[in-house]
Amino acid sequence: MKGTGRRALRAEIVHLVDDPVVAGDRAHEHWSDGLLVLADGKVESCGDAPTLLATLPPNTEIIDYSGKLIVPGFIDAHVHYPQTDIVAAYGEKLLEWLTRYTFPTERRFDDPAYAREVADFFLAELLRNGTTTAAVFATVHPESVDAFFASAQALGARMIAGKVMMDRNCPPDLCDTAETSYEDSKALIERWHRCDRLLYAVTPRFAPTSTERQLELAGRLLDEHEGLYLQSHVAENADEVKWVAELYPWSRSYLDVYDHFGLVRERALYAHCLHLDATDRDRMGATGAAAVFCPTSNLFLGSGLFDVDAARRHRVPVAVGTDVGAGTSFSMLRTLDEAYKVANLLHHRLSPFAALHLATLGGAQALRLDDRIGNFALGKEGDFVVLDFAATPLLARRMQSAATIDERLFALLILGDDRCVAATYLMGEQRHARDNAFKSSADLAISGSHNQHRA
Ligand code: GUN
Ligand code: ZN
Repeated sequence: MKGTGRRALRAEIVHLVDDPVVAGDRAHEHWSDGLLVLADGKVESCGDAPTLLATLPPNTEIIDYSGKLIVPGFIDAHVHYPQTDIVAAYGEKLLEWLTRYTFPTERRFDDPAYAREVADFFLAELLRNGTTTAAVFATVHPESVDAFFASAQALGARMIAGKVMMDRNCPPDLCDTAETSYEDSKALIERWHRCDRLLYAVTPRFAPTSTERQLELAGRLLDEHEGLYLQSHVAENADEVKWVAELYPWSRSYLDVYDHFGLVRERALYAHCLHLDATDRDRMGATGAAAVFCPTSNLFLGSGLFDVDAARRHRVPVAVGTDVGAGTSFSMLRTLDEAYKVANLLHHRLSPFAALHLATLGGAQALRLDDRIGNFALGKEGDFVVLDFAATPLLARRMQSAATIDERLFALLILGDDRCVAATYLMGEQRHARDNAFKSSADLAISGSHNQHRA
């Protein structure tokens, strides 16, 4: 960014400032001719373009995305980068899918070069889909975490990730021990947690693949370091739930296993949460542990339907996740489309703004990162997506009969995918451009006036 480090983007803009289920129409702000102004990568102002343009110093670089829509970067709160190569694997439900597809592919991540190649591809794929923050599982190999964080650091992305802890009920060459998982995680925390934009998540895979000692040490790691995350899976599949009851006969419920070891807390992210009861939900609501709704995965593996309304009633923070490779798309637009349909099957309506909230501000709140990302409030990090309403002939046609931003946003969520992502920015810097036709400000510099160009 040149000069004062200031850059402005002109487009239609929408973002959330509150939860639409609570605040209704006051939950979002919308400018049909908007301006997002960034200084040194952070939001300096956001509002009506004609008004804000008059206040900008001459020489401010202005990138013109008129006709397109800028929204905050999407947050994918649950995804497995090592499963990139097994997305769309046929025919199994959870436990057989893990054995047949997942464990064999995760074995390959003992090779740092392979891990880095997959991490680079995975992060490029996130950006192609407008996802700027994700909570990511690596594998049991510490090298897989190093590869992921090194790749994310090079991009400047805000990412959460951790080494899978898994010391039983898995192939011997993918098994750590309670003690080595503690030591390896600790070393990774010291290396990566809070390094640039990176954050560490203690990552026991799920209760069936951890001994009680390992879960105890996971809790110790959380107590020993400030601001860590905990990520795992809970209550995804009926056979899995039965298995957990056998492995932990003393537990009241699956969630109670994690609770017993101090793992149900703020910054804990639990994927799925399909087979919970009211006591479980109350516990998550009381502690601030988040549920991550992964609709494409839940439908693909035939696991069940996430009850977003029940979560809300019990004040459980909710985010959305793709859960690739059980999830079938990196696109948060595809994911929100499936979320809408799951909610509909349970007789709830997920409004377009409630859906966008889940993938932006609501996700950021669930991750306790809403002081930094999630919308365009003053001082937040400049991560955002430029969406193309006319990315496909059908979308372009549908938009002609969509009058309001509500209707157009809904059509974008239901019909859209990576083709709609014209550009993705991290800290105000373009990190993905669909059409590669982007010209830098240096090519178009006109001194003494606003330096305006079409992207
Ligand atoms: N439960 C334990 N491991 C996994 C995984 O890799 N994916 C999903 N969807 N569920 C899990
Ligand atoms: Zn998962």
